[in-house]
Amino acid sequence: MTEVTEVKKAPYVIEWREGFKIGVVQVDQEHRHLFTLVRALNLESVDQTVEELLDYVVTHFSNEQDMMEKSGYPAFEQHLKLHEEFAGQVADFLGSGAEWTEDRVQELRRFLNKWLIGHIMTHDLRFGKWHASQMAQTAIVQRAAARPSGFFARLFGKKHSETA
Ligand SMILES: [Fe+2]
Repeated sequence: MTEVTEVKKAPYVIEWREGFKIGVVQVDQEHRHLFTLVRALNLESVDQTVEELLDYVVTHFSNEQDMMEKSGYPAFEQHLKLHEEFAGQVADFLGSGAEWTEDRVQELRRFLNKWLIGHIMTHDLRFGKWHASQMAQTAIVQRAAARPSGFFARLFGKKHSETA
């Protein structure tokens, strides 16, 4: 015999955490704000909170895409498609025209949190790692350009003092 008990569902909340960082300051700040907006979704002011969230998603996606395109990120096109797919999924969900209920708000919040975490930890993180390697390469080139003979001067200078 199965026992049926009524369990009051706790709100589905996922807080942003340090582990979600991809190492690109602006992107990390925007992701953090997205989690705050997802958390703020509520039935009482659903139209307003959904609109605010979607506005910010658009801002964030444009900023991220801009950064990827301008830096020559090789997977930019692929990433753009992921953002478009997401927009389509959200449009389908909102376009169903179903009445807002506590459950539907929870469903949206759950979908957004899961999508965000999956996307950040896989695709945005890939960009973060690529971005870091680009920064490191740029720093090496800049250092070399700033001191064209520094390496030899230090190397021979050191050798000289060791043998002296
Ligand atoms: Fe992204």
